[in-house]
Amino acid sequence: MLIDLSAGYKYIDKRKRALSRLLPLTKQAGVDSVGELVTLQKIKPFNHLHVSEQEALPLTETSFFRDIYPFEALKKVVLPLLLKKRRSSQTLNIWCAACSSGQEPYSIALLLRQYFPIFSTWKLRLIASDISEEMLSRARAARYSQLEVSRGLPPTFLKRYFHPVGEEWQLNDDIREMVEFQQIDLTDEWLPLPSMDIIFMRNVLIYFDVPTKKAILEKVRGVLQPDGYLFLGIAETTVALDSLFKMVKFDKAVCYRLRG
Ligand SMILES: C[S@@+](CC[C@H](N)C(=O)[O-])C[C@H]1O[C@@H](n2cnc3c(N)ncnc32)[C@H](O)[C@@H]1O
Repeated sequence: MLIDLSAGYKYIDKRKRALSRLLPLTKQAGVDSVGELVTLQKIKPFNHLHVSEQEALPLTETSFFRDIYPFEALKKVVLPLLLKKRRSSQTLNIWCAACSSGQEPYSIALLLRQYFPIFSTWKLRLIASDISEEMLSRARAARYSQLEVSRGLPPTFLKRYFHPVGEEWQLNDDIREMVEFQQIDLTDEWLPLPSMDIIFMRNVLIYFDVPTKKAILEKVRGVLQPDGYLFLGIAETTVALDSLFKMVKFDKAVCYRLRG
């Protein structure tokens, strides 16, 4: 099954709203209840309802610099190291998988622009993907409400890198253009991707069952550089799923690296 609905409900604690959004899908699926819909998804996980469920459930929660520690690890440890290690090729590839409405890849872009302007002279690719076209189009637009910019975004960044449009805030084009968006279903085949120095795949594995998580982590190993860094959400881990990853801590941040 692709989405662990019970975990999703606990996570978002918005069961009633989720149920009301799923009810119209029961009709589409030809079943009588949300319970039957869940059973149907267990039997036949890959179908058009999958994407509809994704878009019906509020499972797209995100914010700028969410859970701050991975971004601090990027700033203090990971990017300074890669700056040295990749000096000869001057190439840096970052993938933000399951990017939702874009706050996560744009947080990385802002961090790069603010603290590592040197990367703008490198061959830098910052790829962001999601399964949902609706989320991707929000992410590409890079326009956020007052509430969204008040969650995690330092005021100095708001002032420097955004401008007001009506009651919303538009991210400036030079930052927007740093991110390439693609639709990728993590459970499906992935389009060819460059070898990644850093992968952010946060708060999405929680929705999958164990075999699906294992299959995704195996594919992650295929695209991560041997000395690359994988960041997962705080409720996620590779432990007991993939022994070829090891956990590494940087202060309060946890990331995963390939065993040498
Ligand atoms: C909770 S959000 C996480 C957003 C961001 N990574 C963060 O941590 O703030 C989960 C995202 O995963 C996406 N997603 C769900 N299933 C997916 C799949 N099979 N492939 C790719 N993305 C998926 C959803 O559309 C949603 O945008």
